[in-house]
Amino acid sequence: MNDTHLLEGMTVILTGATGGIGRRIASVLADSGARLALADLERDAVEELTEELTAAGRSAIGDAFDAAKSDDFDAFHRRTRNELGEVDGLVNCAGHWQPKPFAEISPHDLTRMMTDNLTTAFVGCQSVVPAMIVRRRGSVVNFASTAGEYGSITPGAHYAAAKGAVIGLTKSLAREASPHNVRINAVSPGPIDTFALGAATPQQKADVGARTLFGRLGEPDEIAAGCVYLLSSMSSFVTGHILRINGGSLL
Ligand SMILES: NC(=O)c1ccc[n+]([C@@H]2O[C@H](COP(=O)([O-])OP(=O)(O)OC[C@H]3O[C@@H](n4cnc5c(N)ncnc54)[C@H](O)[C@@H]3O)[C@@H](O)[C@H]2O)c1
Repeated sequence: MNDTHLLEGMTVILTGATGGIGRRIASVLADSGARLALADLERDAVEELTEELTAAGRSAIGDAFDAAKSDDFDAFHRRTRNELGEVDGLVNCAGHWQPKPFAEISPHDLTRMMTDNLTTAFVGCQSVVPAMIVRRRGSVVNFASTAGEYGSITPGAHYAAAKGAVIGLTKSLAREASPHNVRINAVSPGPIDTFALGAATPQQKADVGARTLFGRLGEPDEIAAGCVYLLSSMSSFVTGHILRINGGSLL
């Protein structure tokens, strides 16, 4: 993807930054001119990504913490404001997927699913959106999934439930924040070729890809492009929207 400078001068917090999709989002947002605050669970991975970007001349800081913990998120938000300036964008990409038949989903599985997919987005918005409202400037991109819109194809009702809840959060907060010029949207990816599919055989990947109208899996770059659009002023009249990037697997 070419440098577009669509996000020049913006400070953006990105969670789930070292995941299969998050890494590409980090790179594409940086190419688009954003100053980045990167968050994920594993310190080594966050430090490596931050160093990679800064070595390439990009402006980036990073930290490892659980984005579902509000004290830790608030501390990272404060650090971001101090080191990179007021936050203009928040991408809540952190998430967790686990294929499991309904009867086998334990209370722990359910809690972790809700924590990593919903609470991370909820806490991120609670930390950052009030300051955006004061400044009357900001854009949030949450991460839904086709599973949250029409149910999980592979067994995983807890994942679908968590992603459905992200959609409810996105639309409700859009109603509260948009009158203050703060936009709240989500991307809803279809099957994307990432680490999550890493264990799959080529045939399994081809079978999942065949469910899209293009007959292939999506690329992390194609999700990152949607994030750039939703963060940038190109989408200035878009809020409460669930941007489907799914190759037509759900129409
Ligand atoms: N890959 C797909 O096909 C697909 C499809 C639909 C939606 N999604 C969504 O896109 C997002 C990225 O997916 P991915 O494929 O890159 O997954 P991934 O597992 O590779 O990356 C997710 C990242 O989130 C981080 N994370 C999880 N819980 C966290 C927490 N509590 N605090 C901080 N970080 C946390 C993980 O450490 C990981 O690096 C997720 O929200 C996922 O549900 C992915």
